[in-house]
Amino acid sequence: MDANLDPAGAARALLAFWRAAGVDMDVAEAVYAAAPKAAAVAPKREAPITAPRLKKVASAPVDSARALAASANTVAELRAAVEKFDGCALKATARNTVFSDGPEDAPVLIIGEAPGKDEDEQGKPFVGRSGQMLDRMLDQIGLSRQSNVLISNTIYWRPPGNRDPTDGEILACLPFAERLVAILQPKLLILAGKSAAHTMLRRTDGVLKLRGRRLSYGREGEPAVNAMVMLHPAYLLRQPQQKRLAWTDLLLAEAWLKELGVARVT
Ligand code: URA
Repeated sequence: MDANLDPAGAARALLAFWRAAGVDMDVAEAVYAAAPKAAAVAPKREAPITAPRLKKVASAPVDSARALAASANTVAELRAAVEKFDGCALKATARNTVFSDGPEDAPVLIIGEAPGKDEDEQGKPFVGRSGQMLDRMLDQIGLSRQSNVLISNTIYWRPPGNRDPTDGEILACLPFAERLVAILQPKLLILAGKSAAHTMLRRTDGVLKLRGRRLSYGREGEPAVNAMVMLHPAYLLRQPQQKRLAWTDLLLAEAWLKELGVARVT
């Protein structure tokens, strides 16, 4: 490498110049030898596509959620366990616990983020504007909460003012969402939006990268579950130009369900 470009080469050339100029090189070379070596240039690596996102939080609520969730063997029991759980501070400000809506043996499970105002008032997930949009989308591919889809969230109480849930709130509720998948063993798990996708898949990739792909949801000791990510209906209400992508997601779900032999209403 040209000494002009290589810092070590440039330093050696400078020392040679000083030596020739009569500088006391014992001192200069000792200083040079003691100087920290330039770090080897690491080969360029691809950024990992997965990374833990949630910070460590107090373990007592998480432990209590795990114990309650583990004690449930049906969706109805899990709902009762969530209602009994006092480890999520959001419960204190919410009107209702919002757990699920739809048949408790549905082949398709949709998990969104958290209840909003309408959901809090009615005690059911996805009943506001974005929920109505979700129902219309599902109807296009023969799915509905009346017949073959169970709808739930990763958080069961409305965050005040619809703020984002904190990591502590997400982790306190997560054992219940995980247990719901384990109990229901859906043929297809659809994660609506970034927050549900990151929480359930433990990935940090952008939602636009995760959507439209056949993925797998897995937890140790449990069978893997087919999973996919769709754009959140609330996002589509804000960005209607993205409905094109949402339509592709629906077609993927439809094709996958057909392959899996899941009955849809046509
Ligand atoms: N958005 C969600 O993610 N869940 C709901 O229940 C309502 C809106």
